[in-house]
Amino acid sequence: MMPVNMSVIGAGYWGKKVIREIMDVSRTTGQVNLCSIVDNSPSMLEQCRKEFGPLDYRLSYQGLLSDSATSAVHICSPNGTHFEVASRFLRSKKHVLVEKPLALRSREADELVRLAETNRKVLAVGHVHRFNNGVKELKRVVDSGLLGDIYYLRLQWTGFLPPQRDRDVITDLGPHPFDICNNILGTWPTKISCRGRGYRGGSGDEVAFITAEHIDGVNASIELSWLDSEKHRDVTVVGSDAVARLDCLDQKLVLQRSDKTETILTVPSNTLHEEIIHFAECVENNSTSEPYSNLSDGAIGAGVVRLLEASKRSVSEERTIQVSIPESEELIASEPAQTGFRKLSAYH
Ligand SMILES: NC(=O)c1ccc[n+]([C@@H]2O[C@H](COP(=O)([O-])OP(=O)(O)OC[C@H]3O[C@@H](n4cnc5c(N)ncnc54)[C@H](O)[C@@H]3O)[C@@H](O)[C@H]2O)c1
Repeated sequence: MMPVNMSVIGAGYWGKKVIREIMDVSRTTGQVNLCSIVDNSPSMLEQCRKEFGPLDYRLSYQGLLSDSATSAVHICSPNGTHFEVASRFLRSKKHVLVEKPLALRSREADELVRLAETNRKVLAVGHVHRFNNGVKELKRVVDSGLLGDIYYLRLQWTGFLPPQRDRDVITDLGPHPFDICNNILGTWPTKISCRGRGYRGGSGDEVAFITAEHIDGVNASIELSWLDSEKHRDVTVVGSDAVARLDCLDQKLVLQRSDKTETILTVPSNTLHEEIIHFAECVENNSTSEPYSNLSDGAIGAGVVRLLEASKRSVSEERTIQVSIPESEELIASEPAQTGFRKLSAYH
């Protein structure tokens, strides 16, 4: 396999982690090659120069659009820039991996999916828990019927942050829990109700309580908070025969039945590392026009953006919002994650 030549756009907190992983995947597998690092802040680029040594550093991504040395980009710039940056690279016929959320508005997310399809390029979204071995094991347990009938899910996504400007907790923390529910249940919710509030004078909600109603009466209760001092990334699935508790950080899964409690051993995965390898394989496989399952494709990203939008509408209108998921995304959501074809995954 020829290495995929990747550039990173945005080299802040997450972008630097991505750069380290791309370098590691390059070193250990040869499946990717790091080309350029772009950040519009000179001081951020200077930090990168010190940490990563001599590379192609740029203050603007403009020149990369027509640079044949780069065939794919990982976009790690702020959420508000995702649509503009991703749409420009897709139009320039580059493969794109965008950090979550795919975009701020569903019409933008849908447009990115359309652009990827039209230009026959891979579009992936950084729903990194698709590559979490604990989540994969939890899905296997749920699918096996070990929990019996699924009654409800509870997801706690919390951790202290000082007051934030231009950010809200639903947009920032909501994508992962919504994506995990979709992955585990294989469905999208049809109704969302949400209460949210900001307390410390930041620009948006700092805590949100979401109820997502899936078909068959399965509810997911999601707590998002920047106020709770404890960091939690927890998923609980309550069934008629057992309860499964997963800590997404250490990827430890515990199964509680009436007669015993057991820990299911999983080897924790390096989720970002796996995500980058999977993206490279999507690019490689699509280049031969073979249908290839993109586990975190643009349509899944767009489905999640719809749920973020519905949650925010529910807060502002103080009512339950009906969610309509387009038929194409419905198909994708109900496909088994490991094997399903992805109608909208891109081709070269
Ligand atoms: N998958 C995850 O678990 C995860 C975790 C953290 C952050 N993220 C995502 O990563 C993205 C970045 O978050 P962060 O915490 O690193 O933010 P950050 O503010 O630390 O970094 C963003 C960087 O982008 C740069 N930038 C802004 N506009 C730019 C542009 N037009 N071109 C190039 N560079 C530009 C900024 O100078 C900054 O260095 C967000 O979308 C966030 O949701 C994902």
